[in-house]
Amino acid sequence: MASPGNMKMSKDAVISVQNLGWRYIGSQRWAIENISFQVHPGEITGIVGPSGAGKTTLILALRGLIPHNFQGTMKGSVSIGGLNTKAIHPSKLVGRVGMVFQDPETQFTGLSVEEEIVFALENLGLSDEEMDRRIVNALDAVQLPDGMRDRSPFQLSGGQKQRVVLASALAMETDVIILDEPTSELDPMGEEEVFRVLRELRHRRNVTIVIVSHATEQLATLCDRILCIQEGRLVKDSSSREFFSAVEELYGYGIRPPQVTELAYELAEHADGMTQVKLPLSIDEACLFLSRLEGKESVL
Ligand SMILES: Nc1ncnc2c1ncn2[C@@H]1O[C@H](COP(=O)(O)OP(=O)(O)OP(=O)(O)O)[C@@H](O)[C@H]1O
Ligand SMILES: [Mg+2]
Repeated sequence: MASPGNMKMSKDAVISVQNLGWRYIGSQRWAIENISFQVHPGEITGIVGPSGAGKTTLILALRGLIPHNFQGTMKGSVSIGGLNTKAIHPSKLVGRVGMVFQDPETQFTGLSVEEEIVFALENLGLSDEEMDRRIVNALDAVQLPDGMRDRSPFQLSGGQKQRVVLASALAMETDVIILDEPTSELDPMGEEEVFRVLRELRHRRNVTIVIVSHATEQLATLCDRILCIQEGRLVKDSSSREFFSAVEELYGYGIRPPQVTELAYELAEHADGMTQVKLPLSIDEACLFLSRLEGKESVL
């Protein structure tokens, strides 16, 4: 790939990562090394890579928890909203960057759904009216009915729980939201619920999203761009379409493309002239692809 390390710093980048490296204390190897990229406002970026590749380490560094809350050695720099994360305490980023982790239950702090969101907002010094506006908007954005405000978050389904966590992050109205495998604990319905909210968010406001996930089907239709991490290094940084269409290359990285893309890739291999046709990333696109395939000679 073209070396992202040589990319010019662009003024309007909301996240800028320059030659970032991190080695945990006591470890012989760098968990991540020489990573550079920039994210622009409103861009939705997916991060993929096998287990242990360094995705969470990168996310922790984006949020400034590395280097402040972990021991180790850092190289390079991260700036978010123009702030160098090394120079400021991570608490200063609370109103700027929302975080959502894997397990919703470990992120709950309140007794009710409403308290959960209030807790997130407490230190912002908002008026009661503003607080209420944000709670209503956040619940609306994640499509949790108002009637759920008084329920215990622990009584909800997995997808609903993670939507409460997402609502707390949204209520902060940060410009950036970072999610680390937000659906890996959820069943397929819960996963779909969370990704539906993220897809909706695209249209609601200009929020910048960085999401680590193994759910390639979902990433393919949500993300503008995909970063692929292998053994601590950024090996591919491309548009979602370009990324998921490179089927053979993905297999080499141990990443499974969306099933519709895989199927179409196999079919195209055996039909005249179809290898030139754009591979589908979604079911809708697959329908179009199949209609073009009709009538082509196939050896399948
Ligand atoms: N606190 C830590 N101390 C020492 N080494 C760590 C620590 N956390 C992670 N590592 C190591 O850093 C490397 C990257 O781990 P990381 O958790 O960032 O990977 P990941 O891509 O998020 O994996 P997964 O998909 O399993 O979540 C791994 O080799 C891991 O063992
Ligand atoms: Mg991880």
